[in-house]
Amino acid sequence: MKKIALLTLIACLPTTPTMATDLSPRVNASRTAIKSFFGALAGELKGALKKADPLEAINVCNTRAMGITSAHSEKNGWQIGRTSLKPRNAANAPDAWETSVLKEFEARKAAGENPKKMEHYEVVTKNGQPFFRYMKAIPTAEKPCLVCHGSNIKPALIEVLDKLYPQDKARGYKAGDIRGAFTITQPMSFEIR
Ligand code: HEC
Repeated sequence: MKKIALLTLIACLPTTPTMATDLSPRVNASRTAIKSFFGALAGELKGALKKADPLEAINVCNTRAMGITSAHSEKNGWQIGRTSLKPRNAANAPDAWETSVLKEFEARKAAGENPKKMEHYEVVTKNGQPFFRYMKAIPTAEKPCLVCHGSNIKPALIEVLDKLYPQDKARGYKAGDIRGAFTITQPMSFEIR
């Protein structure tokens, strides 16, 4: 009995809606959101750094990043965020799936792939529910990233960072390193329009 049910299930797989779903609209929507998210963040960061006030710049990466993140999430019914194998904010620490993808990104980079275009997506099941999950690598640029994530962070900045992020691991990066990744989770039940 069980065997037949399983065979029927396998025979039905290609026409099961979840399996047959074309992921490209979700992938495209993820790419677009991340582009504008990153654009907004980088723009604000640049402006804040020009004012030469480290506190204000840190504030952009801290509170504003989260504000921008949640605006996008509401618009798309997604959970969107940033994560890293060496997070500055412990709240950005990766879950098990994100950890394995970040490690895969490191392996791909070691094999010669450019992190700029690196992405990974798949449908994963959690508590019986299918979710679309997407990650895009964030490369470390010399400017402005190393000001706050490099090996020569100014003492005044270090003082502030130490206070705000006692568990900060996001220092000592070099240009070209993978700083982390954008990460999106979306229930498959949510339609892309
Ligand atoms: C003015 C200082 C500053 C600059 C410049 C800066 N960051 Fe950050 N970055 C921070 C702070 C502060 C956080 C913690 C944000 C939070 O609390 O969520 C952070 C967090 C992050 C995170 C989230 C994961 C984590 O470590 O918590 C990523 C990814 C990241 N930064 C990438 C970059 C990249 C890429 C650049 C260059 C384009 C950059 N940052 C430039 C200060 C900075």
